[in-house]
Amino acid sequence: PAYENIKIDVVGSKSNVGLIQLNRPKALNALCGPLFKELGQAVRDFDANDKIAAIVITGNEKAFAAGADIKEMQNNTYSSNVRNGFLKDWEDVSNCGKPVIAAVNGFALGGGCELAMLCDIIYAGEKAKFGQPEINIGTIPGAGGTQRLPRYVGKSKAMEIVLTGNFIDAHEAEKMGLVSRVFPVEKLLEETIKLAERIGTHSPLIVKLAKQAVNQAYETTLRSGLQYEKSAFYGTFATEDRKEGMTAFVEKRPPAFKNE
Ligand code: HXC
Repeated sequence: PAYENIKIDVVGSKSNVGLIQLNRPKALNALCGPLFKELGQAVRDFDANDKIAAIVITGNEKAFAAGADIKEMQNNTYSSNVRNGFLKDWEDVSNCGKPVIAAVNGFALGGGCELAMLCDIIYAGEKAKFGQPEINIGTIPGAGGTQRLPRYVGKSKAMEIVLTGNFIDAHEAEKMGLVSRVFPVEKLLEETIKLAERIGTHSPLIVKLAKQAVNQAYETTLRSGLQYEKSAFYGTFATEDRKEGMTAFVEKRPPAFKNE
């Protein structure tokens, strides 16, 4: 499909990484409705494509995304939000079965920070800035900022970020566990693609199960999460790829996974 608000590409030495670049540079990649429709479509297509192992979402050096499009939502009303299901397209990213990695350079604010947190892993360039500045414009985060952020960084820091609207830089974000690694600006994308390629050396089937299991830690109690994990772990023993992985180890050769 021809996209207007994003660019897509297939990258990596094995051409198995789906790259999505948010592409409204003049508006600092503000997340307007059409952009999110396209992003959802691109994620769904890569998720359904057997040749793709993982997806990377990035922006440009100035901005990952500076939030929902304020000009677009300025005249929304409570009724129109309810009637039209404002933000419903955001579910597509969190519903993706394959790993989705955010490569954040520049601003990740409001909905931009929330989009990064919808992803499974966040890598950042050292000039990245994160924040939930909705409070400055008389509203609150609406796509996970008050829910996912405390799960990443704990209550006190999340409260500070949400109630002040202040930005935090990449190193602070790494220290508080929001970001898993920080790189020089110009290295960020290649390092993120390397991460995706590394994940892509494993069985796609088992990667999917592992992602689902980690997500349980965010969505349920410890007891039921541990139970889920045990069932999924037992379940891997019904797969060809588990058998191949262990056989290859014993035979001292690299595994050849088949996604079976
Ligand atoms: C629409 C935006 C925008 C946004 C920037 N622009 N952010 N347009 N929505 N969120 C536009 C500006 O209007 C301007 O276009 C152009 O991008 C460049 O922005 P400047 O402000 O001139 O750049 P700069 O001075 O470098 O300041 C950068 C900035 C600032 C600090 C990031 O742009 C800013 O504060 N943006 C808003 C951040 C924010 O409040 N985000 C939360 C949004 S609410 P023009 O054509 O006007 O010059 C939200 C709700 C989430 O995300 C709910 C769930 C999704």
